Amino acid sequence: MFIVFEGIDGTGKSTQVNLLADALRQQGREVVTSKEPTDGPHGTRLRQSADTGRLSPQEELDLFHLDRKEHIANLIKPSLERGAVVILDRYFFSTMAYQGVRGFDPLEIRRINEEFAPLPDHVFILELDLDTALDRIGVRDGEANEFEQRESLQKCHEVFAALDDDFIHRVDAGQTPEKVHERVLSHLS
Ligand code: TMP
Repeated sequence: MFIVFEGIDGTGKSTQVNLLADALRQQGREVVTSKEPTDGPHGTRLRQSADTGRLSPQEELDLFHLDRKEHIANLIKPSLERGAVVILDRYFFSTMAYQGVRGFDPLEIRRINEEFAPLPDHVFILELDLDTALDRIGVRDGEANEFEQRESLQKCHEVFAALDDDFIHRVDAGQTPEKVHERVLSHLS
């Protein structure tokens, strides 16, 4: 089973990844958790660029794709093949949203990704109003960096809101983490 959490910054994705991983492990399943961008060389470069100066849109898009290809080959595919549950904090839906903001067509990004990236069984979109998201980011980071500007997040939200596949589940992330987790479990059961 391949599960992805998506949503704008501040929606509590990593908390939900951990809560779900713990719950599934208690059922005796092998669970692998990970995130994108990864801690590999491309992902590290992407994270550093948020502080040291933003890359060009094309360079950034290329790096996200390279990072994902390595992630799939090194971790996602082998884990799924041996029967583990894989839970990710962000996947190509984030590329549609965030690189969509930088001028690329989200549907074209999706088409490119579907050529190499396996489709998840479940994608949870954590939804939160912008003010709450910005407050949470402020508390978390001290200051909002360029990635986290209001206008960009609004556009990202719109890309996530337009996703309409059977495997997409929307969950109100304004509730307590425990309530959000309960909603996630109810979708899975
Ligand atoms: P995070 O570690 O807080 O999730 O931050 C990662 C940032 O990278 C976040 O602002 C979203 C951004 N991002 C993209 O722009 N494109 C992508 O494909 C992914 C996975 C993340």
